[in-house]
Amino acid sequence: MDERLSKSASAPLFLRALAGETTARPPVWLMRQAGRYLAEYRAIRDEAGSFLDLCYTPKLATEVTLQPIRRFGFDAAILFSDILVIPHGLGQKLEFREGEGPVLEPIEDDAGLGRLKRDGCLDRLAPVFETVGRIREALPEEVPLIGFCGAPWTVATYMVAGRGTPDQAPARLWAYRDAEGFARLIDLLVEVSAEYLIAQIEAGAQAVQIFDSWAGSLPEDAFRRWSLAPNREIVRRVKAAHPQVPVIGFPRAAGPLYEAFVEETGVDAVACDTTLPVDWIRDRLQPKAAVQGNLDPLLLVAGGRAMEERVREIVAVLGAGPFIFNLGHGIVPQTPPEHVARLVEIIRDCEA
Ligand code: CP3
Repeated sequence: MDERLSKSASAPLFLRALAGETTARPPVWLMRQAGRYLAEYRAIRDEAGSFLDLCYTPKLATEVTLQPIRRFGFDAAILFSDILVIPHGLGQKLEFREGEGPVLEPIEDDAGLGRLKRDGCLDRLAPVFETVGRIREALPEEVPLIGFCGAPWTVATYMVAGRGTPDQAPARLWAYRDAEGFARLIDLLVEVSAEYLIAQIEAGAQAVQIFDSWAGSLPEDAFRRWSLAPNREIVRRVKAAHPQVPVIGFPRAAGPLYEAFVEETGVDAVACDTTLPVDWIRDRLQPKAAVQGNLDPLLLVAGGRAMEERVREIVAVLGAGPFIFNLGHGIVPQTPPEHVARLVEIIRDCEA
């Protein structure tokens, strides 16, 4: 266990697991635990007008962060925001369209890079830091607050394509055709993302997660250059400023490259996607970091015996080491809230 992170027995379960401790039952939180599957979220979302307005209105963003904590009693809260506020803070036009997801003005070359405004980026994101402070004040002491950002590669895939894509082809093509030009975008994102996480920590976040949702679209050498290395550099910068704050990495769908990611980035914990076999996670990842995951979000939609058996299997295999229960990717909107309540109940019952 990392001494700098070691936690007393009275510390929240989530922070103890992140410090490398095996806890009596796993702490549980879910990626995208605030969102459209909750009626109370949809009501606030309507009140805010647009999704971005919701992200930038501290009072409302605080409220939707707290909703799932009140309803389900999760062991950690996650800041309500989005990974795409970074490109927006850099001056890239961004809109979330109903049923379509994010739409940005694509950046395809040096001229596009030149339009980004590095200066003042963090100032434009000041409402996010105000939200973090408000959430921390409103949360019960025993519920830690997670801050987050997108990893440079994943954020870049949206910046370059101007939208979500099935295969991230526009960013991959730029990276292959003009690695030097693409590196300027990635380097910029490393800088602002590290500053952004540090500002969240200084506003009250007690752990941070870096979402590299599209890490799995890169072959090994490109993965090392565009996913692993930028994640490592962000971890280094965050740790230089705040060595005691745990960092969770999430190189989704990276398969066997998860192992190098954990060994080489210095993350305290790794969020595992649904495809990683639990025995493999236990044998190859858990000796090196705390692990988080990895229930299929669609098993949470299905509920019933299929869900319950899988939850117990995951806890049986991973619960013998430092472990945080979560999904392997975010909650989907059609998830019945009763299934989430049942999931939390099963995990709480794990305590012997
Ligand atoms: O986890 C949480 O509860 C905190 C909030 C959070 C959101 N997005 C809110 C959100 C977090 C951590 C994210 C991360 C995020 N955003 C990722 C990485 C994780 C992942 O899911 O892979 C990515 C790739 C994005 C980009 C993004 N944001 C897309 C592609 C979309 C459209 C798809 C969709 O689900 O609508 C969003 C919108 C978004 N971000 C919503 C929420 C609650 C839904 C918007 C709405 O309410 O209309």
